[in-house]
Amino acid sequence: MTTLITHIAHLVNVRETNSLLRGKDLSVLPGIENAFLLIEDGIIAEYGAMFELELKVPQLPKNIIDAGGQFVLPAWCDSHTHIVFAKSREEEFVDKIKGATYAEIAAKGGGILNSADKLNAASEEELFNSAWKRLEEVSRLGTGAIEIKSGYGLNVQGELKMLRVIKRLKEKSNLSIKATFLGAHTFPLAYKDNHKGYIDCIINDMLPVIAAEKLADYIDVFCETGFFSPEEMETICKAGMHCGLKPKLHVNQLNSIGGIETGIKLNAVSLDHLETLTESDISLLSSQNPSPPGGRWMGACTLLPTAAFFLRMPYQPARKLIDSNCAIALATDYNPGSSPSGNMNFVVSLSCIQMKMLPEEAINAATINGAYAMELQHELGSITIGKKANLIFTRPIPSLAYLPYAFGTNPIARVMLNGNFIN
Ligand code: NIG
Ligand code: FE
Repeated sequence: MTTLITHIAHLVNVRETNSLLRGKDLSVLPGIENAFLLIEDGIIAEYGAMFELELKVPQLPKNIIDAGGQFVLPAWCDSHTHIVFAKSREEEFVDKIKGATYAEIAAKGGGILNSADKLNAASEEELFNSAWKRLEEVSRLGTGAIEIKSGYGLNVQGELKMLRVIKRLKEKSNLSIKATFLGAHTFPLAYKDNHKGYIDCIINDMLPVIAAEKLADYIDVFCETGFFSPEEMETICKAGMHCGLKPKLHVNQLNSIGGIETGIKLNAVSLDHLETLTESDISLLSSQNPSPPGGRWMGACTLLPTAAFFLRMPYQPARKLIDSNCAIALATDYNPGSSPSGNMNFVVSLSCIQMKMLPEEAINAATINGAYAMELQHELGSITIGKKANLIFTRPIPSLAYLPYAFGTNPIARVMLNGNFIN
């Protein structure tokens, strides 16, 4: 089917070529005013200014949609989530209001272990159905590509169950989905004092099945005090890489313990969280970004500001990172413990309001750089011929900056996935 969209007030993030945007380049958001967009079989086939329409599309298709007043953007690319979970955890939320910290809750068997108990008691069908609802919810909020992690099973059966649910979501959903194996989310109680035992279980019992059934694209480890050390992360990642899984890592959320150095050494696709950065962490990240590019670490720094917001932590130093020429992606971290929201619109607003990112920087970080953080940059993340027509149609808005400015309001009129409107 061919669809022509005409009179788009502003076609946002129009690019002929792909590159992971870093430093100053993040603030450049190319667009076309009063534009048209041609979609053939779910793929962007042509675009341009309305005055070029006759020249570029000599034969008009039957299906023409007038988008007068609307902005059209590439759909959000949410590169870090944990949306397969059995139950919400609002009781811990109340404990935190009363003064408990994330680490204290975890130490008492709450947190990730609480979610693991609930997940292991749930059927694959229940998990699929609840995750499906979350996918529907976030796609209506403009998300067109998403990464989903395991990590609430913490035993062979539970981790495989989660990954099989993600595989089914991949097969059935019209969103583009990447799967990440996060067996190393925390040590289950039975292995509290036997770290080697659990790491052996990940390497010898989980990874071979995951590789054989092609259940994951990436491997993740929660590198944190009281969780996995950088050395343990390296051992686990190397075993994962042996099975074809590239690392995408949780580092520097609560403490700076060397995860960045190890992550760079492992050539991680992305280093995620980064709430807690020392000066030397920042200079390490920025020294990896040579100009002209080439040679050293070419991954993304994925910031998750709603996790900092929800846990009342200092926000990630986005400005410092961008001014040091780093490549920033933004994601929701949607999970029941630290970010029970998959709303990328709010992530973009929060990034501008609290991390002083410019609207252009935040939109680039949530689209093209998010696509990079899932290695989907050739399919998604910008308005480019040949990419999927996963698009956000806004309500009539006065300017692009209005999107992050009007936080908490829903700026989206319709969402298109693979050339079809979902609402
Ligand atoms: O990314 N920090 C590690 N993992 C998740 C939280 C998981 C949970 O609390 O259930 C995160 O914040
Ligand atoms: Fe996370």
